[in-house]
Amino acid sequence: MRTRSWVKALSAFHVLCGVLVHAEYVEPSRLDSCPGYNAVNVTTSTNGRTISADLVLAGTPCNVFGKDLQQLRLQVAYESDNRIHLKIIDPLQPRYEVPESVFPRPQSGNSTLNPNIQFTYTTTPFLFNISRVGTNETLFATSAGHPLIFEPQYLRIKSSGSPADANIYGLGEHTETFRLPTRDLTRTFWSRDSYGIPTGTNLYGNHPVYFEHRLTGTHGVFLLSSNGMDIKINDTQPGVTSIEYNVIGGVLDFYFFAGSNPLEVSREYAKIAGAPAEVPYWSFGLHQCRFGYQNFVDVAGVITNYSAAGIPLETMWTDIDYMDRRRVFTLDPDYFPLSRMREIVDHLHDNGQKYIVMVDPALGYFPNEGYAPVDRGIETDIFLKWPNGSVVIGVVWPGPSVWPDWFHPKVQDFWNGEFELFFNETEGLDIDGVWIDMNEPASFCNLPCTDPWEQSRERQFPPPRAFPPPDINTPIFVKATKKNKRSILDPPYAISDAAPNGDLSATTSPVNATHFNNLTEYDVHNLYGTMMSTSTHLAMLNRRPELRTLVITRSTFAGAGRHVGKWLGDNLSTWEQYRFSIAGMLGFTSIYQIPMVGSDICGFGDNTTETLCARWAMLGGFYPFMRNHNQDTSISQEFYRWPLVTQAAKNVLDMRYRLLDYIYTAFHTASLDGTPVLQPLFYRFPNDTNTFSIEHQFLYGSSILVSPVTEENSTSVTIYLPPEGRYYDFLTFAPVPESRTGNVTLTNVDFTKIPVHIVGGAVVPLRVEGAMITDELRKKDFEIVIAPDKNGVAHGKLYVDDGVSIGQSRQTFLTMEYGNGRLTITGEFGHPLNVKLKRIRILGVPKRPSGVNFGGQANLNTTKEVEYDGEKKVLNVELGTAFESAFSLQLL
Ligand SMILES: *[C@@H]1O[C@H](CO)[C@@H](O)[C@H](O)[C@H]1NC(C)=O
Ligand SMILES: *[C@@H]1O[C@H](CO)[C@@H](O)[C@H](O)[C@H]1NC(C)=O
Ligand SMILES: *[C@@H]1O[C@H](CO)[C@@H](O)[C@H](O)[C@H]1NC(C)=O
Ligand SMILES: *[C@@H]1O[C@H](CO)[C@@H](O)[C@H](O)[C@H]1NC(C)=O
Ligand SMILES: *[C@@H]1O[C@H](CO)[C@@H](O)[C@H](O)[C@H]1NC(C)=O
Ligand SMILES: *[C@@H]1O[C@H](CO)[C@@H](O)[C@H](O)[C@H]1NC(C)=O
Ligand SMILES: *[C@@H]1O[C@H](CO)[C@@H](O)[C@H](O)[C@H]1NC(C)=O
Ligand SMILES: *[C@@H]1O[C@H](CO)[C@@H](O)[C@H](O)[C@H]1NC(C)=O
Ligand SMILES: *[C@@H]1O[C@H](CO)[C@@H](O)[C@H](O)[C@H]1NC(C)=O
Repeated sequence: MRTRSWVKALSAFHVLCGVLVHAEYVEPSRLDSCPGYNAVNVTTSTNGRTISADLVLAGTPCNVFGKDLQQLRLQVAYESDNRIHLKIIDPLQPRYEVPESVFPRPQSGNSTLNPNIQFTYTTTPFLFNISRVGTNETLFATSAGHPLIFEPQYLRIKSSGSPADANIYGLGEHTETFRLPTRDLTRTFWSRDSYGIPTGTNLYGNHPVYFEHRLTGTHGVFLLSSNGMDIKINDTQPGVTSIEYNVIGGVLDFYFFAGSNPLEVSREYAKIAGAPAEVPYWSFGLHQCRFGYQNFVDVAGVITNYSAAGIPLETMWTDIDYMDRRRVFTLDPDYFPLSRMREIVDHLHDNGQKYIVMVDPALGYFPNEGYAPVDRGIETDIFLKWPNGSVVIGVVWPGPSVWPDWFHPKVQDFWNGEFELFFNETEGLDIDGVWIDMNEPASFCNLPCTDPWEQSRERQFPPPRAFPPPDINTPIFVKATKKNKRSILDPPYAISDAAPNGDLSATTSPVNATHFNNLTEYDVHNLYGTMMSTSTHLAMLNRRPELRTLVITRSTFAGAGRHVGKWLGDNLSTWEQYRFSIAGMLGFTSIYQIPMVGSDICGFGDNTTETLCARWAMLGGFYPFMRNHNQDTSISQEFYRWPLVTQAAKNVLDMRYRLLDYIYTAFHTASLDGTPVLQPLFYRFPNDTNTFSIEHQFLYGSSILVSPVTEENSTSVTIYLPPEGRYYDFLTFAPVPESRTGNVTLTNVDFTKIPVHIVGGAVVPLRVEGAMITDELRKKDFEIVIAPDKNGVAHGKLYVDDGVSIGQSRQTFLTMEYGNGRLTITGEFGHPLNVKLKRIRILGVPKRPSGVNFGGQANLNTTKEVEYDGEKKVLNVELGTAFESAFSLQLL
């Protein structure tokens, strides 16, 4: 029934503002013949930083999906030298805007009125242009050919400001290529439970921001809107890439921001969306999860098997299996009895390991049946409602289910209370982090969802257990406004929602559900997952106010990184999705400011294979969030299941753990200024056009280049090493000869190896060896690896704190600079490292120096062993001294 938006509009009649509008076949050409607006009453503030105007409809309304608004209000502000904020609103009637409580607006910076980007406009018709001052190039431009359209439920604005074949990134969450196609692309924004993460569809999260990179600089465009929308990119007009927004509500609230390179633009976006929250040190350890661990014996067995296989396991996870009839905040008394679960958690904690479980937002709707959480929710009245005030009931894992309304003023207390009670340290399940799922929110109820009870019975929700429970004594561990009449159930412009029949209520909560503050799901749907994220983060902090925690969510909106990390949803065990995961992750780290991200390693749905799982274990070793997770109907895929995968996992975990302080430092930096933790290659080589579309290689931190094998059954991979850089093999430390840069094919990359290089210009702090848990890792000595660039220069940082506390008063934050054969380490040693600096390695040293001199207060006057490996060109200076103060070292 449903296809493109204009087909949908073909026969639709809509009543809007009391006027009968016949919305007929609307072709793109029809949109372009709309009258647009003229600007009058243009006012510029005396300091020139703000401009406002009234916009008046410039001709006969075209009323394509409703009635054109006669008058609009334009507000433009130079918020800093690199940022312009532009809003177009209805001056007569307030319209929905993303609430400040969900997305705090950025502080206006201190514009010196020496802006790097500027807003220019014409009044008749009103058209505007955002351009880069230094080069006078257009970044975003509306044109007379594509007039602004502003109707109650349809807002259209189109830019022709990008060059042909533009380098555009972002507009997630998606599984398109990282560098987005510039032809015939529709990106739809409407949170959706999207099993298998199909390309070309709307997925779980919504980040209506893109970065465009040019040789002359990089800029970003963010539309702060949570309404459903299609953003279309096309190349119909010669010489131009067009970007068209089709939004079904709210206002136009744009941020334009620019920098001279992509890193600066990431940091600019962090000023708008917020920089990411710090996560605990332990969260970079290996996580093991699956859907389908049958009982506590299974869970304990996996922990035991990891230990026996000698694979470091930091955190054990449990999916919804643990719940009693799949009701959140319960434990199945037969399969996951509290006493045995507490034993497992104690065992983990005694071994320095951690435990995480899943929490869904939906609570089984079984009032007065002894399910206390739902009774408490009903009593505090915090569930999402229909417009008539009755509770919305969908179908989720437990059967008929209700959703917390995150806008309700009492919802945080409710959520805190349930967490304190169920995850009680002394009497409950003492988790260390939490995993939140199904928060689009997802519903299994087919529309019209008139009888959720009947649908639950048909689907056998909750499903019966497949096996009898284990003996409880089984031993374990042996060794908007109401005035605007809107048709929100069936909006005249239909975004390309991939849910059944494109119905906005399908597979989720109803679009006409009403939140506490009278906002409708229609406007705030895309915020649900992110609001649950915030509430859950706060509930976890409420349990342990002084400690950081880890919250991993499925659905996100712009700004979610302030509170949570994210996994890339229900992927499949395919080589294609193994490759996709890199682009997916780069979007969240380098653009959306949610750096604690990863894909389910070895794949969630379908059955993995030994070689896929081995390759994926190694790629996953360079995900910020490294978790093996699997579906209940798939074959088991813990790393110890196959010898090859065991070895691959051990190899990569050794690299990952040695690099853990390096990536932890990158995270700390990200939390301060938004510098991305993972970067696409063009961030480092913005002038090398060959890098712009690379999406199977990436930088872990700013200097570790990861280039996985990408094809099935292959032991070779062709990678690109930008010729302007210098590279060193991470395992041997040998320099890559200049003749082996550019496109190079690596062969004999067996299934336990992943190509990793240090990009010259880096001083990398490493632990001398890995460990079974991160607490042990923190007791290992450091070594410092200097990998100079072509000019013999390198720099790096090392940040260490206690790894868990919020508001660190004692920090060690060091700057490491190298040039002219001299290494200088300066900075504060506020947090005692209590380990030694075992050695310093200098890479690419052409010949043995005649000696090494030390300076500074460090007690470095003992005899040093200096070894030179002429073949690998590595100079090792063995130190073994306490690492507790600044010093310098000079090669003679
Ligand atoms: C322009 O400003 C004048 C004076 O404030 C006001 O009367 C008029 O309504 C404004 N025009 C529009 C289109 O808003
Ligand atoms: C603007 O400058 C003031 C005074 O120097 C400073 O306190 C404030 O943080 C600055 N604001 C921003 C957003 O940079
Ligand atoms: C900048 O470009 C615009 C056209 O895009 C042109 O009208 C204007 O004169 C140029 N300004 C400068 C200073 O070159
Ligand atoms: C892109 O342009 C082509 C040619 O005009 C058109 O057929 C197609 O529908 C457009 N795609 C989108 C997503 O707008
Ligand atoms: C809300 O939407 C449902 C369909 O999902 C419909 O049955 C119901 O009548 C609507 N309620 C109101 C008050 O619009
Ligand atoms: C958690 O358990 C402790 C010890 O029994 C108790 O004092 C505390 O009140 C419990 N917390 C909640 C929220 O029930
Ligand atoms: C929501 O609307 C109802 C009915 O108009 C009103 O009674 C209630 O106070 C409103 N709630 C809020 C939080 O504005
Ligand atoms: C995965 O393997 C299991 C066990 O061999 C089999 O039952 C199942 O059908 C397989 N799943 C798929 C999607 O092939
Ligand atoms: C890229 O080119 C610009 C302009 O030539 C230059 O300023 C910049 O330093 C170059 N960037 C890098 C990373 O080489």
